[in-house]
This record gives sequence, structure tokens and C-alpha cells, in this order.
Amino acid sequence: MPRAGVLTGGGDSPGINAALRAIVRFGMKHGVEVVGFLEGWRGPLENLIQPMTVGDVSGILHIGGTILGSSRTNPFKTQGGPERIVENLEVNAIDFLVAIGGEDTMGVAHRLSNELGVKAIGIPQTIDNDIAMTDYSIGFWSALEAVTDALDRLHTTAASHHRVLILEVMGRDAGWLSLMGGVAGGADVILIPEEAFDLDSIFRKIKRRELLKKRFSIIIVAEGARPEGLGGQVIAEAQVDEFGHVRLGGVGQFIANQLSERMRMPVRVTNLAYLQRGGSPAPFDRILATRFGAASVEFALEGTFDVMTALRGVKIEPVSLADALAKSRPVSEGLRYLIGLFE
Ligand code: F6P
Repeated sequence: MPRAGVLTGGGDSPGINAALRAIVRFGMKHGVEVVGFLEGWRGPLENLIQPMTVGDVSGILHIGGTILGSSRTNPFKTQGGPERIVENLEVNAIDFLVAIGGEDTMGVAHRLSNELGVKAIGIPQTIDNDIAMTDYSIGFWSALEAVTDALDRLHTTAASHHRVLILEVMGRDAGWLSLMGGVAGGADVILIPEEAFDLDSIFRKIKRRELLKKRFSIIIVAEGARPEGLGGQVIAEAQVDEFGHVRLGGVGQFIANQLSERMRMPVRVTNLAYLQRGGSPAPFDRILATRFGAASVEFALEGTFDVMTALRGVKIEPVSLADALAKSRPVSEGLRYLIGLFE
């Protein structure tokens, strides 16, 4: 009986559990036994395992987060780390590994595959939706719901006051949550990392709304958005993680401070932070994750490895991990017109 290992790494998002459930249930149907590794790449590194039977994945379809836990562990940062992973895979008689996560998690899977011959498959999962070669990653649509809901709530309170309300959302270097959330929630100003913003033009937009007797304005800003002339992104924590990323955050407050100096209306900030990553998965993510999970087992049984399971149009297809990881995925040019649609 083939044995699959599965792990979930990086920032979590709603829908991961649905993928785990599908891997185990579809696996069982096709004679594949599944073992879970806990806490991302720390699991196979330190041999932290958990059996994954159909009973273990029962009742988790609608629950956010990951029952396996997650971490930002990079085994290539530990002396002999990758070799230890290969040893632990052998100890547990694992034939192939499914790594669910973003570019960092899948990047490790690709290196292990390339450099040490591990049979690995990646499943794209990130609320940032910044993975190339797939139309969507698990978690994006759920986070988008949270962003839209937050904007709806801000609208009702904003309408009662003369205020500028700023909503800061995640996304790292990609503006998908900000752009799509801003359109769905009717934000008056949408700021994304892909286009540096100019404070004067934000100021002018708000003034224009005031002239039209609008009592309030709502700005949505991606954590990675860059003010023109500042030279970079606003950083919440300069210390880098094991993959070399700083923690972004604070651009909303930066804008609020700048605007407050120039206008009488109060400017207030809400940082949606981890609220957009938690909660139940949206139906789209439950279905996508179920398809990704089952298809990954199918690809493995066909002997297709070093691939990412991707959504391409309406089809689920394997794409080379090297190609998927070779480039980033900014908000597509074709969608950016939405930012200024009503100006
Ligand atoms: O990549 C997912 C993400 O939520 C980003 O949007 C955000 O910048 C980052 O993770 C936050 O990381 P952490 O959970 O380590 O604070």
C-alpha cells in the first residue's frame, strides 16, 4: 500500500482542512495510506507525525486553520536538515509527500525533489493569491469574504460620521485582497503594492468627495503598498523569518498620519490583520481544496511529481513546480483598471 506524507506550512488559511480531508478520503479509496507531519517542515525535520485516518479528518471540512499546525521552518537553514527529512521519510516508509502552502513551503518541496530526489507535490494555499500558474490558491476567496464584510461594516459606521476610514489588509507584495476586496466592498480609494501611491492624489480624491457632499471616504490599502518617494514598504518588524521575509504592516497608520495633518475630518485606521485569515472556509475554497487534494493523490498514483496542483480555467492540472515558483503573481494588468473605474 503506497504511503503519503502530508504537511501544511506558512501562514494558514481557511480551506486547508478540506484539502487534508480529501487527500485522506480519496487516498483511502485508492489504497493510499496517509501520515500527517506536524507544524510545516518542522514535522519531517523532527519526525513529528500524526496518523491520518478517515476518522481523524472527519468533521473538519468547515473548520479554518489546519489540524496539522503550521510553521515557517526552512529545513535548508538547518545543518543537515534536508538529509534528516529524507531519513525521516524513509523511517516512516513514505513514498511521496504533499506540501500544502505558499511559495516558501512549495519552494522547499521543489528543492527536496530536485536536490535529494524526494517525490513531492505542492498544493497552493495562501490568502495572498500570489502563486503563479494557478488561477486561485486555497484561502483567497475566504479572506476576500472577510475583507468585504469588514468594508460593509466600516461603511455603515462611516456613514454616520464625517470621517475617513482606512482598512489595511494583508497580501504581502500582491494586491489581490486589496483590489478585489475594494471593488466588492465599494472602497473609494484602492491602494495596491503593484502601483506606488501618491498622498496628494488621495487627498484630492477625498476633497472631491467632500465637494459632492459625501460625508465620508473609505480607503483600502494592502500592507505592501508603497508611498511614492518613501523608498519602500512600511515594515512592522524588521527581523526576517527563515525564508528572508520581514513582517509588513503599518502603512494604514502612515497614511492616516499624513492625511490628518491636512484635513479637518478625523482619519481612523482598522488593521484587519489575522481576522482575514481565520474563520470558516468559503464554499469556493472548500470545493477548490477538495479538488486539489483528490487530484494530488491522482497525480502521485500516475507517477507525476515535482509539480504543483493548479486551477487553470475550470480544470485542475499539474504544472511544473519550477515554473510555478519562477515568477511572482502581481495583480494582473487586465484587472487594474478597476482601481480607477469610477473616477
Ligand atoms: O502569506 C500570508 C500572510 O498572511 C501575508 O499576507 C502576511 O504578510 C504574512 O502572511 C503574515 O505572516 P505571519 O503570520 O508570520 O505574521
